[in-house]
This record gives sequence, structure tokens and C-alpha cells, in this order.
Amino acid sequence: MGIRFGGDYNPEQWPQEVWAEDLKLMKAAHVTMVTAGIFSWAKVEPRPGAYDFGWFDRVMDGLAGAGIEVCLATMTASPPPWLSRAHPEILPEGPDGQRRWPGGRQHYCPSSPVYREHAVRLVEQLADRYAGHPALALWHVGNEYGCHTRQCFCDVSAADFRRWLRERYETVDALNDAWSTAFWSQAYSDFAEVLPPRAAPTFPNPAQQLDYLRFGDDALRACYLAEKAVLDRRTPGVPVTTNLMPQHKPVDAFAWSTHMDVMALDFYQDPHEPDDHVRAGYAFDLMRSARSGQPWLLLEQAPGAVNWRPRNGPKPPGAMRLWSWQAVAQGADAVLYFQWRQSLGGAEKFHSAMLPHGGTRTRVHREVTALGAEFKALPDIAGTRSRADVALLADWHSWWALELDSKPSTALDHSRIALAHYRPLFEAGVACDVVPPDRELSGYRLVVVPNLYLLTARDATRLATYVRGGGRLVVSFFSGIVDEHDRVHPGGYPAPLRELLGLRVEEFWPLEAGSTVAVEGGPCAGRADLWSEAIDLEGAEALAHFTEGDLAGRPAVTRHAYGRGTVWYLGTRLEPGPLRALLDDVRAHAGVTPVLPDLPEGVQATVREADGGPHAPSRKYTFLLNHRTEAVDVALPRPLSDALAAATGAGSTAPTERITLPARGVAVLTAPEPAAETDEGAEGPASRG
Ligand code: GLA
Repeated sequence: MGIRFGGDYNPEQWPQEVWAEDLKLMKAAHVTMVTAGIFSWAKVEPRPGAYDFGWFDRVMDGLAGAGIEVCLATMTASPPPWLSRAHPEILPEGPDGQRRWPGGRQHYCPSSPVYREHAVRLVEQLADRYAGHPALALWHVGNEYGCHTRQCFCDVSAADFRRWLRERYETVDALNDAWSTAFWSQAYSDFAEVLPPRAAPTFPNPAQQLDYLRFGDDALRACYLAEKAVLDRRTPGVPVTTNLMPQHKPVDAFAWSTHMDVMALDFYQDPHEPDDHVRAGYAFDLMRSARSGQPWLLLEQAPGAVNWRPRNGPKPPGAMRLWSWQAVAQGADAVLYFQWRQSLGGAEKFHSAMLPHGGTRTRVHREVTALGAEFKALPDIAGTRSRADVALLADWHSWWALELDSKPSTALDHSRIALAHYRPLFEAGVACDVVPPDRELSGYRLVVVPNLYLLTARDATRLATYVRGGGRLVVSFFSGIVDEHDRVHPGGYPAPLRELLGLRVEEFWPLEAGSTVAVEGGPCAGRADLWSEAIDLEGAEALAHFTEGDLAGRPAVTRHAYGRGTVWYLGTRLEPGPLRALLDDVRAHAGVTPVLPDLPEGVQATVREADGGPHAPSRKYTFLLNHRTEAVDVALPRPLSDALAAATGAGSTAPTERITLPARGVAVLTAPEPAAETDEGAEGPASRG
């Protein structure tokens, strides 16, 4: 089927006369898949238990007739007004006890048995009605879990939390121990006394907050799983997914990934952010890595502007195409948008759509249609995979714990720190996976740990085993400090990593807002910000020192040979230049090279490939993406053809050793003869099998 192309389809917003035109225009725009029914609950169940699927049957039949696949939503993302009127207890409450009223969407408490029962009942109806329907290709459960209601603090949630805690801790003594309740007279004598961490006079218990974040994620996932169980039973073989959000704190993408048949992401680049493609790169790599390289789906993006930022810039010409190809270059097998036809009313009427208010004679619609034609021209990309020599570790539990209150600094922001470490790898053109700490690491030449404040003893041992076996590891500041209950590991910081790193952190020395400190030595001379630490060496060597401030003369960056491998430690956040220099040096040590040598700045290169098996030709695509706003020349190590230009008639198939990418240009390169494929040259080390 190739790369799926299409968007959210909300026909209930339009009279039926429009639907036929929708189908005609979708075909003309090369749409192959739509996500339908996301907000249709009130229309298919206008009164409790009274279902009206007739209109939706016509939608499904029309799409099937047009040969368009449906990613069918379970319609449970926005409960109808009658449900919250009959059962106001389904409405969520904030930590301050304030109820969130209906009138928007996602106004349900994730723990509410009433909400879940009604949702499941609807999903049973849907599954039975559309099982075997020719348009049904995929299920889309809920919508962006935790987007608006991240956590609920109501009494129903409190009772569910106590159940969750009983299952986890069994005895109240174990709970008291895990939550360090000897502190501030917080010891519980009965689970019945436990509440969510509601707004309190001062810092609520951190372990309680951490468990509430875990519980909140589990509660959202329980909603998803309740619906998925129905679908798995009643439509076996139809894959089930839900659209995750990038860097979305309430939802642990790694924990969800084992319950998703295919990963799916919504990503909305901000055209006003000059390098939002790096943030996208991180999110896309995480999606691809979450299910070990399985292709994922870009389930939503904006064709142009969104409506929910303070200022909503349109995507300039070529940007939407470039960023869509970026998703494919990083492993997506689908590019879908929110939404097909731009709404006339409601909160999203100024959000762009594939078919804008201005109709087909609009720049956005022309760009959408042209992109659809491009994906159609290169169907064999679908199903191919990438591999990487570098892994960056990410962990939601550590993120949750890091950003709780009462820390040495509240300026430690997980996403920014992760991106600061990802950026130099992205900019160097290095293929990178983003994986959780419990993933098998031995296949990677280099592992980067941006900041794992919370690290279990077990995961610390795994890192040590990786390095002992010959791995190269980079660990940044304030890592390995607390256990899974936010209790400091005893034995001096960072106790579970001290032997591996060959050092001890004597004292944390966070920097004042806006201040920087000079660091000198080795490849990383420059400045650092945010954080510093007083490091005592215990076997490691200092590569660079602080050269000013309170820690002048003490190590800032260290290196330690451990077993057959090497580990680097950064006791501060190096600014982008010196961090890039250090990571370039570490990569050289680890034998990690970019996808293409001599890649010009601002050009991204990735590889997707498939060996094809005994009966199919092998496929290998090298994607070049010019994120700059001027044309750039890229030298290729050997002659390659631009399959995209050739397939769309925009260029010749002649192999070339030099290609000019226009501003925001894209090329999809293939070797002229499959037989000529070798393991060297353009496809580089990232393709090692
Ligand atoms: C999210 C939602 C969509 C829509 C878009 C608008 O991704 O899932 O329903 O609201 O945002 O950007």
C-alpha cells in the first residue's frame, strides 16, 4: 500500500451533500487513509444506549467505495453532554479540588468506572458493526490521552489510587517505607488515609507525587486497554493504536509501546521556531525506537498553521513537504494531517486543513496534493527500516522525579536537557535511537545518558555491564542520584555509578539563572550553564576543568576506562559548541560516523532499507533533507540517483556524485543498480547489517 496519506475526517461537521465532494477531492489529492469518527460520540449515541450509526455507515461505505482505508476512531475522546449531566462524577478535578466542566473535550476522570463502562459499551457497538468492513484498516483508540486532562484528583481517583497502592505495596508499612513518611509526621496507619497529592500548604511528599504520576499514566492506559481488549476480541487481526504526543509528560511512550500494535505520533512543528526540526527529530527517533525500529505513523500534523499557539505562523512554501518527508526519513509509514476539511465553526476553525476555507485553489491544498503524489510514486519505502550505532537514553520515571519540587535547582528541565544532548548528534548527521534504560544496549557503539536523576540499581548495573563489555558511555550531571522512590542512593553521589564513573560528586553547585562558567581542556573548551558539581576523582581523569567561579580548578568533564570500554562524565551542561566538540571526539573514539561524510550544515541524511528476502529486490533509500532556506550542494561518495525527482518527473534518473538541494529541498537517493550495493560509500556505517 505504500506510505499512507490522509487526515482526520470529521464528516459530522458537514451536510451529507458535502461528503460526495469530499471523496472526489480526497481521490484527487491522493488520500489513501483517513482517521474517522474521533469526535462522533454525541452523534452516534445521541441518547444513552440509543445508537444511530446509519449516517456513519454511509461514511464508511463511501470511503470503501473510493478505495480509502479508515483508521477508525473509537469515538470516546469527548463524552456527550448527556453523560456528564447524568453522571457529573465523571468530570475531572484539579489538585485544588476545582471541577473541570464540559464544554471543551476530554472532560472525564480517567479512573471513572462510569466513563469507562460507557466508553466500552460504545466500542462494543462499533466493533461489531464495522468488523469485516472493507474500509476498516486500523483502530484509533481515544485521542491524545492526557492532552488536556493529564491527571485527576477527585474522590474516585483517590479510591483508585488506593487500590493501585495496595496492589503495589501490599502493606501500609511498605508504603511508609517507600514514601519516607517518617519525615514530617506523614506515617499512615491505613491505606484509607492516603489521598492524591492535592494542593497542600507546602511541598507534598515527593514519592507520593511520583507514584501519582505513575498512577495517572496507568489510569490513562487502563482506559486505552479497556477499549483495546474489546477490539482485540471482536476484530482480531485489525491493528490497534492511539495517537501519542511528543515529549508528553503524562504518558510514558515506552510503557504504552508494548500495548500498541503500531506506534503513532502527532507532531506540530512551530514555523516560528527556526530549528523545530531537531525537536521533531528527537520525537521521531523515539517513536521508531519504541518498538525496536518498527515503522510508525505520523497520525497528525498541520498542513499549515495551527490555532492554539499565541501566534500561529503558516508553514512557508516547501516546509510542510520537508517536515513530512523528515517523518518518513526517520521511519514513518504514514503521513496524516489534522484535518481534511477546515471547520467553519468551533474552536478549530482557524486551524489549517488539507482542504482550506479557500478550497482547492489554495497554496496549502496544492502542496498537500503534490506531496500525496510523491508518496504514491515511491510506495516501496514503506516497511523499510533504519539502524543506528548510537542510543540516547530517556526515561519517564526519571523525568517525573527530576521535575518535582524541592530540588537543588528547579531549572532542570528534562526535555531541554535531552534535546541539548540529541542536537549535536542530529547536527553531525549521526543515526540515533532513543531508548529506555532497560533496553539491550550491547549492539550500540555509543550510549548517551543525558540526565538520569532517577536510576535503579539494576539499570545502573546494566550500564556498567555495557561499558565493561567494551561500550562507550557518556553520562551527564545529576544522574544516578535517587532510587525508584526518589530516595537518595546511600554511599555518596552518584552511588550506583561511582565505580563505573571513577569519581564522587561531593556537592551540587547549580548556577544562577543566566550565568555561565568557563570550562577548559581537551576538545571541550568553552562555557557551560545551568549546573555544576564539585567532583572528586576516584580513578577517572579530568579532561576539562572549571576555570572560573567557585569550582575553579576542579574537574568539569572526566573520562574513565572501565573494563573494555570507556565512560565520560559531564559535571555541567556544556553549551552547544563545546558539547558538540566533545561528542565528536567521543564518536571518533567509538568509531561512530555520520550517515554521509561531509554533510553540509543544516542538511539531514538518513537511511531506510530492507534486505528484500529471497524473492524481492533489496531496497535502500538515502534521504537528504535541506533544512536551510537557501540551496545547498551535497557531495555524494558515489553516484546515486534521485528516485523522488525521477518518480515525479521533476528530474532525471541519471546517477550523480553531486546534488543540489533547493531551499527546503528533499532528495530520496537510490543506487542505480541493486547489484552494485556494497556496505561502503553513500550508505555508510549506519547500514551495517
Ligand atoms: C490535536 C488533536 C486534534 C486537533 C489538533 C489541532 O492533535 O488530536 O483533534 O485538536 O490537535 O492541532
